Amino acid sequence: MNKYVLVTGGAGYIGSHTVVALLQQGYTPVIADDFRNANKIVLAGLRSILGHDPLLYPIDICDKQALTALFDKYTFEGVIHFAAYKAVGESVDKPLEYYQNNLVGLINVLSLLQSHQVKNFVFSSSCTVYGEPKGEKEVSETTPKQLPESPYGYTKWMGEQIIADFHRSAPEIKLMNLRYFNPVGAHPSALIGEFPIGKPNNLLPFVTQTAIGKYPHLTIFGNDYPTRDGSCIRDYIHVQDLAEAHVAALDFLSKQQEGLLEAVNIGTGTGTSVLEIVAAFERVTGLTLPHVIGPRRQGDVIEIYANATKGEQLLGWKARLGIEDALRDAWAWEQHLAAL
Ligand code: WQD
Repeated sequence: MNKYVLVTGGAGYIGSHTVVALLQQGYTPVIADDFRNANKIVLAGLRSILGHDPLLYPIDICDKQALTALFDKYTFEGVIHFAAYKAVGESVDKPLEYYQNNLVGLINVLSLLQSHQVKNFVFSSSCTVYGEPKGEKEVSETTPKQLPESPYGYTKWMGEQIIADFHRSAPEIKLMNLRYFNPVGAHPSALIGEFPIGKPNNLLPFVTQTAIGKYPHLTIFGNDYPTRDGSCIRDYIHVQDLAEAHVAALDFLSKQQEGLLEAVNIGTGTGTSVLEIVAAFERVTGLTLPHVIGPRRQGDVIEIYANATKGEQLLGWKARLGIEDALRDAWAWEQHLAAL
């Protein structure tokens, strides 16, 4: 008996790694992805890792009719909802596209959970809902959320609000918001990884694309912050650990008898600075990474990292890999792309 799981955005960075983890745990992922933020190279990599084509439907989650047809076709054990735009800077330039895609897509999925009696739902949320921690830089799930700094951040903040209101109206459904810290790294096979379309927004792709020669240097956005070395601090979580967290969340929800809504931080519990990332990358690869110090980037949080104990207590999940594993795997992926 197949345990079908709908994975919206399943051809994307975190989605594709989660598809692999789901299959390894006996689930049958069904990908809904229109490739607006994914690349066919990742699909080829998935095929190589899995040894077969994953179930995939190139549909836009804002197309309610197409999404309904999928829910009519499969009896889903659960849904993992990744499909969303996620570039902070781009969201400032294109707020309406972000609200339309990220919120209408979410609303479509939630309404189909109810109409098709699908009981388990995992939402790709973000530490961005915490904003800049006021006191303690280590945030737990009870740390008060703050109004975000970008339309992207608002789509996660509002997304969690929509889910909370939906939960009150559909108490039988089991819902979990996974608040990612900073996803990094790639599958150890180097066949799938982060595939930014155009100029990268995030740090890691910029590091590896600079190292491969696409850019003359990395610009570090400020080294005059009140941190241990002046650069910003984040909690960088290996995408493999992140993928496994989604399976752990689905396993947990599937076992619950009653409806619920939980938020869980998905981070390592350790903060790493930008300068420490550069030093670790050079250590792991033996390369010198050309980098310059530039001005601060507007909206950057100075320091944030996870208190990850709830994930361990509730889901039995804990990050296994460290930043050096992520840098090694991200570099191998970049080299794989360069060889294509
Ligand atoms: C990290 C640090 C930059 C690029 C991300 C995603 C967002 C969300 C939360 C999931 C910052 C510095 C970066 C560069 C740099 N993810 N940096 N030079 O801002 O924490 O947000 O995680 O929901 O989608 O954007 O990540 O990788 O952009 O930046 O110095 O060229 O690296 O200033 O301190 P961020 P990031």
